[in-house]
Amino acid sequence: MTTACVTGLLWGDEGKGKIIDLLSEDAEFVVRYGGGHNAGHTLVHEGERMVLHLVPCGIRRPLVTNVIANGVVIDPFHLAEELASLRASGFDLRLGENLMISERCHVILPSHRQLDCAAESMRGTGKIGTTGRGIGPTYGDRASRLGLRMGDLIRPDNLRLGIARLLAEKNPVLEAFGLGPINADELHHDLLMLGEQFAAGIVDTGLLLRRAVRDGRKILMEGAQGVLLDVDHGTYPFVTSSNASTCGIASGTGMAPATIGTTHGVVKAYATRVGEGPFPTELEGDMANRLREAGNEFGSTTGRPRRCGWFDAVAVRYAVDVAGADKMVMTNLDVLSGFDPLPVCTAYRLADGSTTDCFPAFDLDKVEPVYQELPGFSEDVTGVRRFEDLPAAARDYVEEIERLIGISSAVVSVGPGRDQVIRK
Ligand code: IMP
Repeated sequence: MTTACVTGLLWGDEGKGKIIDLLSEDAEFVVRYGGGHNAGHTLVHEGERMVLHLVPCGIRRPLVTNVIANGVVIDPFHLAEELASLRASGFDLRLGENLMISERCHVILPSHRQLDCAAESMRGTGKIGTTGRGIGPTYGDRASRLGLRMGDLIRPDNLRLGIARLLAEKNPVLEAFGLGPINADELHHDLLMLGEQFAAGIVDTGLLLRRAVRDGRKILMEGAQGVLLDVDHGTYPFVTSSNASTCGIASGTGMAPATIGTTHGVVKAYATRVGEGPFPTELEGDMANRLREAGNEFGSTTGRPRRCGWFDAVAVRYAVDVAGADKMVMTNLDVLSGFDPLPVCTAYRLADGSTTDCFPAFDLDKVEPVYQELPGFSEDVTGVRRFEDLPAAARDYVEEIERLIGISSAVVSVGPGRDQVIRK
């Protein structure tokens, strides 16, 4: 099988960007299949840090074709800015050559962002903590068959009809929220201008990818967010609005499910979450602050401090099963240096006193984690490149987690740099 994928096994922010960059050395295509610019994939190379939101992480490889496939929702205003800023940093991005955009991608409009924020402010204590990027309302319009697609931006007549259909429903809603109505002519003009900029890259990426599969080309799927934020399999309703797990690959690319080969599931050596929602192993107070500072746990898209906690083997084992992960990639092992002991959650205690190692669809906020304590290590491991050179306690930590989640690791990452990895 020539198609591999990288997927997050937590609530996003597992460090997938660096791993996709690393694994793309053998790839001919790197494909984003879901989410939007709510994602922030950080790459560090020779000390320079950059965050990609929509453009796939294969852009540093000159021979890779980067594909934004149909499952991704695109804010064209943001995409124009992201491309301009990457080009200003020296990246040679050529639409229609090394960057392709699916004509089927749904378009995030300024009104989607407004409605995302307005809905959040009405939710009160039930708020989700969205990134405010308009993700939910855009996927909502897609399901309601109201959305505009990137291909509409290069078809003036289609675009006019699509805008009319959308505004007939949306303008009354915007007004009910106290937001101004959208002017159809202005929107038509702005979107056509953006469409002109992207025209060379707007193609049928499903056809491109199916041909690539048929020709045995090497494809790497770039997951965004993580299994626990998947709209079907995550901690609903505190999730994003796409199938962030590997189950989104087929629908998000137009490739058949059977074409997917090795799945790399990425986990941090501990757990983090941004936004609201249950998080059984969450830490409070000094310990949380220590972990947040040590791991520089601040969101790469919104800058929000991430909530931090211990490794949750119940949640990760569930995510391994849902995603069909074959190999674990553990990131940020270096961050745990100096923490002793290292608790790992192996079961949840339920309200009736019984324990379970299954991840529940309801009442996750009511479970209590049951911990197994593992010895910590104090050495700086950022320079280690061979697994056997890690301190014994660090090796035992990785191996115990492999045992608990049922898969072995392919890569252990010990720092943000591209070379700071141990390949097992
Ligand atoms: P939305 O995707 O902006 O609608 O946000 C829904 C939930 O997903 C919120 O809790 C966000 O913080 C979270 N979320 C969305 N994208 C990411 C991501 O890339 N990393 C981590 N959390 C994310």
